[in-house]
Parts: sequence; structure tokens; C-alpha cells
Amino acid sequence: MNILVTGGTGTVGSQVVRELLARGAQVQVLTRDAAKASKLPAGVKAITGDLSKVETVTRVFTGVDGVFLINTVSPTEVYEGLLSVCALRNESVKRLVYLSVHHADGAPWLPHFGGKLGVEEAVRKSGVPSTILRPNNFHQNDYWFKDALLQYGVYPQPIGDVGLHRVDVRDIAEAAAIALTTSGHEGQTYDLVGPEAHTGQSTAEVWSRALGREIKYGGNDLEAWEKQSLQYMPDWLVYDFKHMYAYFQAKGLKASPEAIDRQTKLLGHAPRSFGAFAMETAAAWK
Ligand SMILES: NC(=O)c1ccc[n+]([C@@H]2O[C@H](COP(=O)([O-])OP(=O)(O)OC[C@H]3O[C@@H](n4cnc5c(N)ncnc54)[C@H](OP(=O)(O)O)[C@@H]3O)[C@@H](O)[C@H]2O)c1
Repeated sequence: MNILVTGGTGTVGSQVVRELLARGAQVQVLTRDAAKASKLPAGVKAITGDLSKVETVTRVFTGVDGVFLINTVSPTEVYEGLLSVCALRNESVKRLVYLSVHHADGAPWLPHFGGKLGVEEAVRKSGVPSTILRPNNFHQNDYWFKDALLQYGVYPQPIGDVGLHRVDVRDIAEAAAIALTTSGHEGQTYDLVGPEAHTGQSTAEVWSRALGREIKYGGNDLEAWEKQSLQYMPDWLVYDFKHMYAYFQAKGLKASPEAIDRQTKLLGHAPRSFGAFAMETAAAWK
């Protein structure tokens, strides 16, 4: 199997590359930056290109058996997704796996949720044998909060009091590699989640145990979060995430027991827990 991983230099894609190599696949990674080629694992071929360019999408999918498609959150996310799907319709790709988001249809007004619904629909109707992955909020997002946790003793992600079944990126990568290298997943949509729901408060408690010191939840004040975030994030991203957090605070982002059971069968093991991730990360930060 010759598989092209888009986003293969990023958080999810780099783990997908690892899982594909472990399964004996030949892997190519698409990157906009040729300099990143030297940092890829041995045996992985770098392909330079940009998914917002026609020249790229009409070139990079030719001759590959499988494609892992990520469109990073940006003002051109939907265009990049549709451009890729449109180009893939002319190729002989046998398996396409598209990374969407959990409960995208619960909040279709959010640019990076509603946008993925549109690309999902294009993927389903493209005629390309495909699988859609819908992951919850990643455990690994908490790497962004290392300074807040270690220097200020605060967990700053305003996820609220209802709860999210956050997922470990390694479980997403395994699911992607399984769907790209084994049959029976065409036409399927898999929710990818963690084993238990965590609120902002319970997340802070998990970090307190892992770090051996008190961590306080930063609270649900989205105006304060927005003001601070605008100092280092673009306004379109702050706007999208502020409304996403408002949705999380109102409804949570929870998994059904059936979804957890289905994921367990797909991966052959229970979902990785947030507690285990925090313990492992705290040990690495020491
Ligand atoms: N974070 C969460 O909790 C969460 C939850 C559910 C779903 N998601 C979804 O996950 C996706 C992000 O995944 P991630 O966290 O792994 O991303 P990431 O770490 O930010 O990496 C982004 C990757 O996309 C590549 N990329 C960006 N723009 C590109 C373009 N125009 N053409 C080609 N490649 C491009 C980058 O490659 P180069 O820089 O090397 O070019 C990089 O490999 C988003 O769609 C997001 O909505 C995230």
C-alpha cells in the first residue's frame, strides 16, 4: 500500500505516519515546507505542495492507493477540502480517510464544524471509497497549556461544566491506519473519543494529581478568554474557538456508550484515558 498522508508533519498526521509504517505501508507526506523532509521518519518520502493550489491537488494523488486527508483550521479550510475531493474523483485511490470533528452536526454554525460537514458530504458523494473519522477534543491540545499549568497552576481551556469525552491522538492515528490498510471501513463514520467525560474542573483535578500540586480551573469567562487569546491568535480563530467553547459549555461534547464500544472493537483496545495521558506528560515535563 502506497499512502499519502496530508498533515503528516502535524499532530495527528505524524502519528498516522508512525502507525502506517508499523503496518508495513509505504508512506508519503505532503508538506508546504521542503525543509521539513529531513525531520520525517526514515523511509518516508516528502512531497512538497499546498492543498489550496490546483497544481498540487492535480499532482499529488496520482498513483497512490490511500489518502489521509486533513484540512487544518483556516479561512480556506473548506476550499482546500473540496478542492482535494474534487481532484480525488479523477484518481484511482482505493481508500480515503477524512479527519472531521465529533458532533460536527451539533454546531454547524461554527466555521470549523460546519465546514467539515460540507466536506464530509462531498467525500460521501465523491464515489471514492472512504471513511470519516470524527474525533473529540484532543488530549494533546494540553501541550499548549504547559506554561499555564507549570508556571501559574491554571488549566485555561474553558471547556465548561457539562463534559467532553476527549480523545488521545494515538487512538485517532490507529483508527486512521486501520481504515487505510484493512477492508470493511468504506462508507463508515467513526466517532473517536476517550473513555470518560471531563469538565474544566475535573480536568484541573487530573492535572493536580499528575503534577503533584494544585491546579485551578481558569473558569468559564469567555470574554476574558477572548481578550487574552487575541494577544497571540488571529481574530478569525479566536472567534471560531470562542463560539466552540460556548457550545461546549452549553452542551458538552459527549460520547454514547455505543460509540465507545464501537471504537474499542475497531482499535482492539479500550480508548486511552486522559488520566494516563496527564501522568505520562507530567513525567516527561519533569
Ligand atoms: N485539536 C483538536 O482538539 C481537534 C479535534 C477534532 C478535530 N480536529 C481537527 O484536526 C485538524 C488539525 O489537525 P492537527 O492538529 O494534526 O494539525 P496541525 O498539528 O496544526 O498540523 C497541520 C498540518 O496540516 C498541514 N497543512 C496546513 N495547511 C496546509 C496546506 N494548505 N496544504 C498542505 N498541508 C497543509 C501542515 O503541514 P506543513 O506545515 O508541513 O505544510 C501540518 O502538517 C483540523 O482539521 C481540526 O479541526 C482538531
